[in-house]
Amino acid sequence: MKDLSGASTLEIMNWFNAAFKESSKLEFEVMNPDYLSCTYAGRCLEIKGETYIYRGYKAYTDLAQLLFCRMLTPVLIDEKKVRLSFEKLDLENSFHKTLKSEEKYGVDSAFFEINKNEEPAFIFAYRQALENVNIQNRKQVLDLGVNSGDEFALIKELLPLDSFEKINFIGVDYSASAIEFAKKRFPQNNVRFFEHDINKLDELKLEKSDLIISIGTFQSPNIDFKPFFLSLVQNYLTKDGALILGFPNSRWMGGEMIYGAKVPNYIMSEMSLLYKDVVYCKKYLQQKKFRVTITGKDYIFLTATRIGSL
Ligand SMILES: C[S@@+](CC[C@H](N)C(=O)[O-])C[C@H]1O[C@@H](n2cnc3c(N)ncnc32)[C@H](O)[C@@H]1O
Repeated sequence: MKDLSGASTLEIMNWFNAAFKESSKLEFEVMNPDYLSCTYAGRCLEIKGETYIYRGYKAYTDLAQLLFCRMLTPVLIDEKKVRLSFEKLDLENSFHKTLKSEEKYGVDSAFFEINKNEEPAFIFAYRQALENVNIQNRKQVLDLGVNSGDEFALIKELLPLDSFEKINFIGVDYSASAIEFAKKRFPQNNVRFFEHDINKLDELKLEKSDLIISIGTFQSPNIDFKPFFLSLVQNYLTKDGALILGFPNSRWMGGEMIYGAKVPNYIMSEMSLLYKDVVYCKKYLQQKKFRVTITGKDYIFLTATRIGSL
């Protein structure tokens, strides 16, 4: 068993790089993170002639994710040591690898197995965004790229039923199977879904909404981001309307949400496009007298409310 209790993080990373060439699952010993508390990573201890370097579990789960691994349940060896196991993720198992089509996100797709509402990093920021726009006071919510309706599901969970039923919800997506699923999921009269291409949103002749939500959709290659965004704000938002836009800063692979946006031609995550689009929206909305915040981690949330509204 490899003992890394006294190794620096760089030494551990170097060992991983070499050892993963031989095996897709590695076991090693480190200092028991519960041995100390309220201590920053890197604290060095000498105990009975042995050197230990402290790190909390967060450091190890971060490391596992950065190395595209899953950390298995630690095994306690004694008061000072634990055994950790890192297992390589199956990176081929990812909806990003499926071919582009209107059903890329349909009920039979790998995407459909994802439930973002069970990922704390997603739901924490999304809930905060909903609170920032005072979701309980909104009259009509339009969701573009609604898929199976997960974004509405969280609102339903957050609000008392009578508040939820007072809001009109409209979801649009061009995946026929996802829309069919969403319709069955929300049979309520106040929730409507349209199977439609959002590039042709005008054809639906929708009334303006006082909240527009769109998560993980505007940066799709089939959407011309800037003109689409401008027309949405100008034509689909009421005077006191608010916006919640979610930009993925993560990838879904091997059962995990992995931090960091991926763009072609780079093996590491690269965020230029993400920042460019987010800042473009922020600047435009600020000119139009919106208060804009940018929050989140694995999903970046741009939340905009009209100054002086609600
Ligand atoms: C990455 S998924 C995000 C779905 C959902 N908002 C979520 O975050 O789980 C993008 C969604 O946008 C839909 N979509 C992409 N381009 C579209 C278009 N031009 N018209 C309508 N829907 C579109 C896809 O079918 C898919 O459901």
